[in-house]
Amino acid sequence: MLFKQLFEPISSTYTYLLGCEETGQAILIDPVLPTWQRDLTAIAELGLKLVCTLDTHIHADHITAALTLKRESGSRIAHPAIDALPCTDEPVREGAPLMVGGIRIDPLFTPGHTDGHHAYRVGDRVLTGDALLIDGCGRTDFQNGDAPALYQSVRETLFSLPDETLVYPAHDYEGRRVSSIGQEKMRNPRLGGDRSLADFVVLMSALDLAYPTFIDHAVPGNRECGVCPADVPEDLQRYCERMGESRQG
Ligand SMILES: [Fe+2]
Repeated sequence: MLFKQLFEPISSTYTYLLGCEETGQAILIDPVLPTWQRDLTAIAELGLKLVCTLDTHIHADHITAALTLKRESGSRIAHPAIDALPCTDEPVREGAPLMVGGIRIDPLFTPGHTDGHHAYRVGDRVLTGDALLIDGCGRTDFQNGDAPALYQSVRETLFSLPDETLVYPAHDYEGRRVSSIGQEKMRNPRLGGDRSLADFVVLMSALDLAYPTFIDHAVPGNRECGVCPADVPEDLQRYCERMGESRQG
């Protein structure tokens, strides 16, 4: 399997490119609108063809490139079935692996950051979305987020994977790229060690985070698999433009 971790700097998102060397088929997980062309170039440089995109959840901090990539390359849109988005071509659910050539992707239902969130296990790697970040976790105060559900998703579902499983998160704001289940179990300051459910709930409710800048535009845009809403204000247009391009006039 070919594996590439791509970084989108506006929302500090990691997009993952997985390619099957035998069939030439590729999938992008959590592609972001401003970097869709960069990602397609990376796929072409590896001699692959994009057949599918897949998101971990309905994002609040960026717009998915799923619909644009479908238009540009004919890729199919895979998304958690539980979100019931009408624009989904391939609904995914735990217990039903998604195959891309010879690559097997196992969805893991991991609600708590959002109520439809899924992580994806691929062999000895797990793409944890916003459920589990390196030394952190996603917030639980929007999109039907739920701290007890996140605690259970991480401690019971993700932490039951083998310790050597590599953890690839959907974001990192400090340039960290990869961790492992063993490392997060031991030293994640929110969810590792002997952190109790009660302590975690108190900790999450005390975070007092700012209202997310782009959420009111991102969520409706992502419910349509990646449409930039018409009312995005000028100072947020960078989330909608192709990277390196600025709007004229
Ligand atoms: Fe998120």
